[in-house]
Amino acid sequence: MEFSIKSPANIAFVKYWGQQDSSLILPSNDSFSMNLSNCFTELKIEVVEDPSVKEMVIKEYKTEQYKAATEAEMEKVVAFYTVAKKYLGVTRDKGFRVRSSNSFPKKAGIASSASFFSAMALAFITLFEKDLNKKRLSVLARLSGSGSACRSIPDGFVWWHSAATSEKSYAESIAQVDYWDIRDIVLVLSFDEKKVSSVDGHHGAQTSNYFDSRQQTIPFTLQRIKKAFNDKDFRQFGEAIEQEAINFHSILMTQVPPLFFWSEKTISCIQEIVKLRNAGLEGYFTIDAGENIHLLCEGKNEDRFVEYFKKQDFVKEVITNTAAQGAQIL
Ligand code: PMV
Repeated sequence: MEFSIKSPANIAFVKYWGQQDSSLILPSNDSFSMNLSNCFTELKIEVVEDPSVKEMVIKEYKTEQYKAATEAEMEKVVAFYTVAKKYLGVTRDKGFRVRSSNSFPKKAGIASSASFFSAMALAFITLFEKDLNKKRLSVLARLSGSGSACRSIPDGFVWWHSAATSEKSYAESIAQVDYWDIRDIVLVLSFDEKKVSSVDGHHGAQTSNYFDSRQQTIPFTLQRIKKAFNDKDFRQFGEAIEQEAINFHSILMTQVPPLFFWSEKTISCIQEIVKLRNAGLEGYFTIDAGENIHLLCEGKNEDRFVEYFKKQDFVKEVITNTAAQGAQIL
């Protein structure tokens, strides 16, 4: 049996940071995101009868060659395979060969682990010939270890619920891809892979003196962003998203050990976005756990932003995204 899967990365408007249970990957707070149309992982899976075969090759971004996954990468895949088998109540082992490629640079704060592990969740249920609804599939994706992978399962704009039990902490679509024409323009400032994984980062979240205060304000942030989203009030939406991104990075910078992702280029980019906004071109930034900027704008303004940022020498690449469908079998 052979099949292919495509799954998007997602950008969180309200970020998930910190866990109430690190073995079940239960987040400390709800989060809200959009799936990205041009940042995705594609997998080709070959299922083999010999259960000892567990292989993966990865095509690096912008190269044609596939390289064998590292031992550490393979360990995560096999660990997730074991989790999936248990979750699905499967007893018989299967072997598999995976070919993975990304449409965007990985481990650079563009949620490559979310696109990859959501794709693997769909791959495992297909391999084991199980049918799960999206809610349960999102729970499985969450259990991969990359919690935000659950938000890449449903379509469009997605809400991930925090809860005290595993089955209740699922992701669901709150609006379809065509609900609102907002764009996420990824301004790639660096292709460097980050040195600390989000998994390790989450464990330190509560060491920040500001973590409790974030937890207290997050329900209001969520409410404010959801209202702006429902009203399609782009200004309210963008302003709240920027504040949330800064709040999130304040936690990162004050946890122990601290995580500094912003570079000089990040700051320059923020300044440019604010400058353009003051001049009437409306866009807002958010930043994931990485140096790169996600610039949110309405569809009508995308071309002007792209034209502008392509000319800036600190911008290495510009990737434009509309809202996208979740993980799918091709
Ligand atoms: O899903 P993880 O465990 O890789 O955590 C990543 C969380 C952030 O990307 C930093 C924020 C988010 O909600 O996407």
